Amino acid sequence: MTPIINGTSGREKTWDPAIYNRFSSQREEPFWDLAGLLEPTAGSNVVDLGCGDGRLTAALHKYLNAGQTLGVDSAPGMLSKTELYASECVRFEQGDIASWSAPQPFDIIFANASIQWVDDHRSVISTLKGYLAQGGQIAIQVPSNADHVIYQLASQLGTEWLGSASPPDTVTTNVLKPEEYAELLDALGFDRQHVRLVVYPHRLSSTSDTVEWVKGTSLNRFKAVLSDEDYLGFVDEFRSRVIKELGDQSPYFFTFKRILMWARLS
Ligand SMILES: C[S@@+](CC[C@H](N)C(=O)[O-])C[C@H]1O[C@@H](n2cnc3c(N)ncnc32)[C@H](O)[C@@H]1O
Repeated sequence: MTPIINGTSGREKTWDPAIYNRFSSQREEPFWDLAGLLEPTAGSNVVDLGCGDGRLTAALHKYLNAGQTLGVDSAPGMLSKTELYASECVRFEQGDIASWSAPQPFDIIFANASIQWVDDHRSVISTLKGYLAQGGQIAIQVPSNADHVIYQLASQLGTEWLGSASPPDTVTTNVLKPEEYAELLDALGFDRQHVRLVVYPHRLSSTSDTVEWVKGTSLNRFKAVLSDEDYLGFVDEFRSRVIKELGDQSPYFFTFKRILMWARLS
């Protein structure tokens, strides 16, 4: 089955599954921790927002023994791989979480490491709640690592290279505090909830692997506005600043904070 892919903006074109999946084992851990918060009911209707290349969407479908699962992603590069994982019960389509509207109520709305690129989480989560069926569950994971020095170095370098045209690190401003998500879920009328902050301990082979890590995600905003040649120069300069700041360590212990949240309607 071929996913439906429409026209896209520059930033979306920069998502590359090969680069993103370089650290797939580390990135998969929070996915399964998040899935573990769900209370599976056989035959449920599931949507995976920001589904990436679809591999984990299909695995989630199986894990939940779901009836139908829809994967939604805005990036053609990611969606181009989804036909490997599509089936009669697992479909994929292009959509932007910010403007996506549910074709029908869902029993489970799942979003692992995706809504951090969408503004105004209070409004987004409130909208998503409206798409839940009775007794529906929502499970969201967002990074909460903006205070790690590598993100600050990337933003500083962006300002040096691009001045006021440097794309802002919107993840920093979009992600709320864990307690703010808890308050929001309560205010939205979820009867039960679980919100937690987890520090994932990643032993990367070297300090420069942190650069490879962010090349799969937050450096995409620079890739979208720089020429190919300038982007390579940007990454080289970024790598040397990261090594200067953190030291050339091998292995490098990379702490990564993430917020996992789950809530259920009665
Ligand atoms: C870090 S990856 C996570 C992929 C997958 N959920 C996983 O756990 O492996 C983030 C995904 O969110 C998608 N994404 C980012 N912003 C989005 C948006 N506004 N609407 C839909 N998808 C988005 C990206 O294209 C990318 O595939």
